[in-house]
Amino acid sequence: MSRVIGILSGKGGVGKTTITANLSSALSLKFNKKVTVIDCNMTTSHLGMHFGIFFYPKTFNDFLKGNAEIKDVVFPHGTGVNIIPASLNLSDLVGIDMAHIKEKLEDALSNDDFVFLDIAPGFGKEAVSAMKACQEAILVTTPDLPSVTDAIKAKAVLDQMKINTTGLVINKISGKKFELKKEEIMQMINLPVIAEIPFSFDFVESLSNKTPLVVYKSNSNASIEIFKLASYISGESYKPKRNLIQMIMKIFKP
Ligand SMILES: Nc1ncnc2c1ncn2[C@@H]1O[C@H](COP(=O)(O)OP(=O)(O)OP(=O)(O)O)[C@@H](O)[C@H]1O
Ligand SMILES: [Mg+2]
Repeated sequence: MSRVIGILSGKGGVGKTTITANLSSALSLKFNKKVTVIDCNMTTSHLGMHFGIFFYPKTFNDFLKGNAEIKDVVFPHGTGVNIIPASLNLSDLVGIDMAHIKEKLEDALSNDDFVFLDIAPGFGKEAVSAMKACQEAILVTTPDLPSVTDAIKAKAVLDQMKINTTGLVINKISGKKFELKKEEIMQMINLPVIAEIPFSFDFVESLSNKTPLVVYKSNSNASIEIFKLASYISGESYKPKRNLIQMIMKIFKP
């Protein structure tokens, strides 16, 4: 029986797709889990790009239109992650409706350990219908007021739908004085912080190299934080292997 987990935020651009790609790869590679990711951001879909695949013969759009079965739109990647991509073609948006996908997905993907839904920003029909398909949710925010405010709204919408929010991921932490601190964010949004991911150009570099960071630079600080998140989500133990410089930096910047 799979856990269907939505990755969402409210505000756009905070790192949902980056975290979906890396968390799923980490669960597959490090913890041997069977994972499928679905690009539910149909209007501005990018998930395939994080895995270096831009064009697919069939997409989630075809499944939603009833023109393909789920097995026809699942593409295995070298990380072990199965990808269900959305079409990059605007005309493929016509006739799309995600309103009743929950049962269909649960049945078709019941052999997976995890199914992650990369959800569109905001609270429009596209995002809300994908939220309805989730059994649980992970909220992503950056450490600033606009993003945290929208995460609070997202939590309220999830609460209304009676969907449990597993926790909050704070992404793009630079450690600058002007940033909101973890404690401040936790005061504003009553959720456990399950990961603190640093701001790192490694993510941008790995995207341009079409490879998730946990593969591209598996020993980077950012990758270690993703592996810790994967360990939390899966309940499997993980002990980071930091090099000497990382250990010294950790003492000064815990
Ligand atoms: N921790 C990070 N440090 C630096 N850059 C990051 C980090 N996480 C993500 N990024 C970069 O931020 C940009 C936006 O990330 P991403 O596309 O994952 O956000 P998103 O929340 O999925 O956006 P959207 O709401 O448009 O779907 C990308 O260029 C990505 O490489
Ligand atoms: Mg995205």
